[in-house]
Amino acid sequence: MNLELLTQLTQAFGPPGHEEEIRAIIRDIVSPLADSVWVDPLGSLVALKKGTGGGKKIILAAHMDEIGVMVTYVEEKGFLRFTRMGGINPLTHVGGRVRFADGTVGVISVERREDFSKVPTLEQLYIDVGATSREDAPVKVGAPAAFMRPLVQQGRRIISKTLDDRVGCYVLIEVLRQMQAIADDIYFVFSVQEEVTLSGARTSAYKIDPDMAVAVDVTGTGDTPKALPMAVEMGKGPAIKIQDSGMIAHPAVRDWLIAAAERAGIPYQREILLGGSTDAAAMQLVRGGVPSGCVSIPCRYIHSPSEMIDIEDLEQTIHLLVTAFNPA
Ligand code: CO
Ligand code: ZN
Repeated sequence: MNLELLTQLTQAFGPPGHEEEIRAIIRDIVSPLADSVWVDPLGSLVALKKGTGGGKKIILAAHMDEIGVMVTYVEEKGFLRFTRMGGINPLTHVGGRVRFADGTVGVISVERREDFSKVPTLEQLYIDVGATSREDAPVKVGAPAAFMRPLVQQGRRIISKTLDDRVGCYVLIEVLRQMQAIADDIYFVFSVQEEVTLSGARTSAYKIDPDMAVAVDVTGTGDTPKALPMAVEMGKGPAIKIQDSGMIAHPAVRDWLIAAAERAGIPYQREILLGGSTDAAAMQLVRGGVPSGCVSIPCRYIHSPSEMIDIEDLEQTIHLLVTAFNPA
């Protein structure tokens, strides 16, 4: 487990459409490992590991962007109103901090409310950067911000902001590092704007025109108090997607992943996610259709500033993909 790398990835700035910082970090890491590396027109980073020839074109995708907020209005006294970039929940953000691209830090707080039994709406929240007036505010309308929260390792668990989906980026980097020469060309796509429109993976997949695409992302768990029943638990192995609210995994891809897990004796879980989807949903719909699937890392508290995963699940996900590509 390379805790330093995961820390660097999770703490980097990258709300949807503003992935420059995280992209530069990943580009530096993957450039010496890949045969070629490029950035496509919307900003996704692609690292190609060329095959020995005669194989297929396969995409492995993880998204670089993270949920965040964007300033919509600066009040006379310098308080910032904002909208969501991706699925943020007002319940988990009050009292937290955000960081803007220029390093400005703000506190998320909430107006006085009459009824404390209700969860505040996004419209009732504001960001305080310590400004005294509109003119004094260091950020303008349209400025994106990311949540702040450090990474902590506690026994087998990792707690951090933005494990969705920097842990997927981590998996792709490690698979690329461990990849042996095979016939297939593997395109490692670090996509943009997954949290809002899935547009980065969609356009990268169109350009690459692959025979198969696999997303690596987080998925929810059913193992917390009064959770929605779900047959995925943290610490019980990678989850192989069968269906989510955006797609049905292609049976051939699903079975290819299950066969790899069984071959290597890797514990795995069957994933049906009732709310949410991944880049795979967009990639399967390009051109005439691309058989697509997903390997998920079970994650508690997705889209809160403190997401939690199990280190063993992370390492087994890497092992599963390396096995799938390198049948011994
Ligand atoms: Co997400
Ligand atoms: Zn994600």
